[in-house]
Amino acid sequence: MQTHAIVLATENFVRQELGETEPTGHDFWHAKRVHKMALHIANQVTELKENDKFVIELTALLHDIADWKFHDGNMTIGPQKARIWLETQYVDQEVINSVCEIIKGISFKGGNVPDVSLNLAGQIVQDADRLDAMGPIGIARAFAYGGYKKHPLHNHLIKPVLHSSIEEYKNRQSSTINHFYEKLLLLKDRMNTDIARKIAIKKHQYLVDFLAQFHEDWGGNE
Ligand code: ADP
Ligand code: NI
Repeated sequence: MQTHAIVLATENFVRQELGETEPTGHDFWHAKRVHKMALHIANQVTELKENDKFVIELTALLHDIADWKFHDGNMTIGPQKARIWLETQYVDQEVINSVCEIIKGISFKGGNVPDVSLNLAGQIVQDADRLDAMGPIGIARAFAYGGYKKHPLHNHLIKPVLHSSIEEYKNRQSSTINHFYEKLLLLKDRMNTDIARKIAIKKHQYLVDFLAQFHEDWGGNE
């Protein structure tokens, strides 16, 4: 099958798997936006090798089909599901291995936990994924996630923490506003590509402005 037809079939598969009403900000439209942004970045990167664009498209679409945060911290379910799907499409093993490797390493796992090193295709998808956690859409997704997890919007008595292990990050019971300090505000300095770094500046400023106004309206710390 042509790579384009496989990408389209994958998009349909992800649409069925993730659905459009998923409550945590990981719905089909997230995958679709990451796909679009990853292609936008990829089109401006000159060092891509043959197949890299195909890997980028497939990974962007499939990266959240079974997020470890919702599967008891199990990081193998996502790549396994992606592999089974891609095998039904007769995708080359080399491409499947790349996609699965990236899905395994893409996630943010704590403010003080270094990112897993990814190849260029993986770095581009990671940038696109992270950009979608910033700006107005990032704010909306954070509060959707927090609501689903029954986290408070904010509590000035609970201070943000930079987590040093994935277990601490996973088990935290923080407020959604703290999530901005624990992850979202750190993302602009954890972009891999220059193109994403530029896009991140504006989205970061949007978060900063939102927080300033939020704290002003919250009204002090008594
Ligand atoms: P990651 O690459 O870190 O796995 P995803 O792109 O899968 O991130 O999506 C995670 C989304 O869920 C982001 O928008 C993120 O802000 C949100 N999220 C994750 N943890 C929390 C949390 N504790 N509180 C609020 N939002 C969260
Ligand atoms: Ni994602």
